[in-house]
Amino acid sequence: MATSTDSTLTIRRPDDWHVHLRDHDVLRGVLPYTARQFARAIVMPNLSPPVTTAEGVNAYRHRIIAAIPPGLSFTPLMTAYLTDGTDPADIAQGYADGVFVAAKLYPAHATTGSAHGVTDVAKILGVLEKMQDVGMPLLIHGEVTDHDVDIFDREAVFIERTLAPLVRDLPGLKVVFEHITTAEAADFVDASGPNIGATITPQHLHINRNAMLVGGIRPHAYCLPVAKREKHRLALRKAATSGSPKYFLGTDSAPHAVGAKESACGCAGIFNAPFAIESYVAVFDEERALDRFEAFASENGPRFYGLPLNEETITLERAENPVPEIVDANGTPIVPFHAATSLGWRLV
Ligand code: DOR
Ligand code: ZN
Repeated sequence: MATSTDSTLTIRRPDDWHVHLRDHDVLRGVLPYTARQFARAIVMPNLSPPVTTAEGVNAYRHRIIAAIPPGLSFTPLMTAYLTDGTDPADIAQGYADGVFVAAKLYPAHATTGSAHGVTDVAKILGVLEKMQDVGMPLLIHGEVTDHDVDIFDREAVFIERTLAPLVRDLPGLKVVFEHITTAEAADFVDASGPNIGATITPQHLHINRNAMLVGGIRPHAYCLPVAKREKHRLALRKAATSGSPKYFLGTDSAPHAVGAKESACGCAGIFNAPFAIESYVAVFDEERALDRFEAFASENGPRFYGLPLNEETITLERAENPVPEIVDANGTPIVPFHAATSLGWRLV
């Protein structure tokens, strides 16, 4: 369906298969950025406290719907947060009722809002078997938390210790390896069956770990999984633009107030929602892969989840698009990804 000229690209309206919308005042401040670009988004459940039950997820879904700005069409696709105590029957019922479309596995203490996460995958085997039976996708934050594993190795070690055995033992389980950051992760996804997909964020396509550490410590480039070496960024660019149906757009937009980032112990998370689609299209343009952008942004995700493709379109045009230093999210100041630089594309 994509059409292009020298200066414009029109594609099916995209979806965001991984976003943090937070709650209450901040939700109302950040949601408009996502809803103006994306028709649907997979909403992460790591609120504090996390949303772990069908009842909690349904209430959160209603708060999101109430925050959609008038005139925008947007559908939140909800997820349940898995804990050691998750009830397989509650998960299966919430899925059957359409309350949520997937469940998120956070290894306990891997990242922001993961304190209630799973301490050992063996403890939720009954839940995962049930999910495999009903065809419900499992969304994984793929990092080990062992103190003896270097933070830059935590994703690769997770593949060896947890993900490969899980995929071997539950070969029919649909898995999204979220926000992959390494060549090892792309290799694993490429070598797996069609039931294993992955999201890739804009930041992991744009920056390597130097962005965080060269010339001073730069907290706004810090997220988890942390950006890795340049060779990994290049592997992710190759995967995203390869045309493989296994890779799809998932921003992992994770807003934190500027003060919570610029701190002695700054929060993990990059707020990329304001210019997400422009950030991604710039990468595909640089890689001479604009003809593959629509599949990554608008087709591979819904096909993986078994949902219909969006029928509306969006148009992007080549134009200077300055990114502000800071945005006001309904009273919370947040520094966006690409702050104080300019992107070469603009959503019309
Ligand atoms: O950087 C991150 N921020 N990674 C995550 O996994 C969670 C997220 C957040 O919620 O802030
Ligand atoms: Zn996330």
